[in-house]
Formats: sequence, structure tokens, C-alpha cells
Amino acid sequence: MKNLIALTVVIVFAIMAYSFNFPEDPKKVPEKYDKLINPFKADAASIKSGKETYSMLCRSCHGAGGKGDGNKAAYLETPPADFTSLAFQSQSDGAIFYRVFYVHKDMSSLKRRMIDNESDIDGSFGTSSGPGDLVNYLRTFSK
Ligand code: HEC
Repeated sequence: MKNLIALTVVIVFAIMAYSFNFPEDPKKVPEKYDKLINPFKADAASIKSGKETYSMLCRSCHGAGGKGDGNKAAYLETPPADFTSLAFQSQSDGAIFYRVFYVHKDMSSLKRRMIDNESDIDGSFGTSSGPGDLVNYLRTFSK
């Protein structure tokens, strides 16, 4: 009988430990995106275009220097990410792209303003240079 109780306890704990791993972290970047290479070269034109998008859609929260200290930052529940941090900059381009377009809470309306068709960026940087330019610009915040 004791053995049976012990076994039941072990099984219950095993199931609990297993289910704690799910649901998965929603910020986790799927491998498919993590490995994506930005097809848009970080030349002066790309960075200029990325900066224009950033000034229009991101600067108010993330700040002109990317430190997460924009005008609106004080009114937000969670602080905006600091793009100058090593943790941010050490991610792959694909991971940054995924976080901007698929994880970001405030992104759905912004996304609509940046790309014509959502399926265009399904699993790739898409055909319009907007998202790729934006990622190239975010790279300029590295220390
Ligand atoms: C309304 C304010 C606001 C605007 C506008 C905004 N962000 Fe954010 N952003 C946040 C906040 C708050 C967080 C942290 C919480 C979260 O992840 O949702 C965040 C997180 C992020 C992250 C995740 C960083 C990480 O690695 O965890 C990225 C990338 C990002 N923002 C990029 C952008 C870009 C690019 C734009 C413009 C196209 C933008 N954001 C516009 C508020 C904003």
C-alpha cells in the first residue's frame, strides 16, 4: 500500500512538472524565425528608412536613443525594451524581427501601418523592405 501511495505521489509530481513547462513562453522565438537572415542590407538608405519608421511608430515609447525612455514610457504598465542592452543586441535579426511583429503587444495596429499584407511576413522578412530596414536601424543602438 505504501508503495502505491509513493508511486502515485511520484506520478502526480511528474505530471505537474511536465505541465508547468506549458504553455510555452509566448516570447520564445521559434527556430524558424531565429535563423532568419535579414535580406535587406544595412546600408545608409536602409538605415535612413528604418529611422523614419522608428520615429513615426516607436520613438514615443522606446525613446530617441532606444533606451526605453520615450515620452509615453511613464504611462505604460511594463517598461519598453532597452535596445542598447547587450541582451537585446545579442539576439539574431530574425529573433528581433519576430519579437517586433509577433510578440509585441502594441504591434498589431502598427504592423498594419508597416506592411500591406500580414501573410507577406509569415516566416520571412517579406518583400517590402520596411521590416528589414527597421531591424537594421535597431542595430544602430548597440553600444
Ligand atoms: C505604446 C508604446 C510602444 C510603442 C509605440 C512601441 N513599443 Fe515596443 N515595447 C513597448 C513595451 C511596453 C515593451 C515591453 C513589453 C512587451 O514586450 O510588450 C516593448 C517591447 C519591445 C520589443 C521586445 C524586446 C525584447 O527583446 O523583449 C521590441 C523588439 C520592440 N518593443 C520594438 C518596437 C518597435 C520596433 C516599435 C515601432 C515599430 C515599437 N516597439 C513601438 C512599448 C512600445
